Amino acid sequence: MHTQIFRNFPANDRSNLIAILQDIQEIYGYLPEQALQDTADYLGMALSGVYGVATFYNQFRLTPLGENVIRVCRGTACHVKESANILRALECELGIKVGETTRDKKFTLESVACIGACSIAPVININNEYFGRLKTKDIPRILNVLRKEKAVKEQENIQSSVST
Ligand code: FES
Repeated sequence: MHTQIFRNFPANDRSNLIAILQDIQEIYGYLPEQALQDTADYLGMALSGVYGVATFYNQFRLTPLGENVIRVCRGTACHVKESANILRALECELGIKVGETTRDKKFTLESVACIGACSIAPVININNEYFGRLKTKDIPRILNVLRKEKAVKEQENIQSSVST
């Protein structure tokens, strides 16, 4: 699928590398290894050169996102309201560090700059929903709700596949 992107760019022109990687990530949500290899071949560069760019810019991901993406704001207003503690609580509850995805692929944890909700700092964004004025004690409850919602959806999917 990603090879169709190459039609929009001349072959062997490395100046388009970032634009190509952005388009690939738009399709998959991350940069699969085969897509990086195909890009290197198309642009006539070494795979290591493509990896170098993909790992240099933090807009690019080399692994898929989890089902739930948790973004912790680390902007100034949130920092003043101790967003570092929120981030630590999430890392502790999920057993991962920022930038990682849980082994079961349910959660990805990211830190971001100001997400424009400073009036409710400290704030996190989960699947594009905002949770503000957070305390660390809120974190287990929020994660439990997400886990339960997921379990209910999975159960509904099982039931609908059995009944069809
Ligand atoms: S600094 Fe966190 S929302 Fe603005």
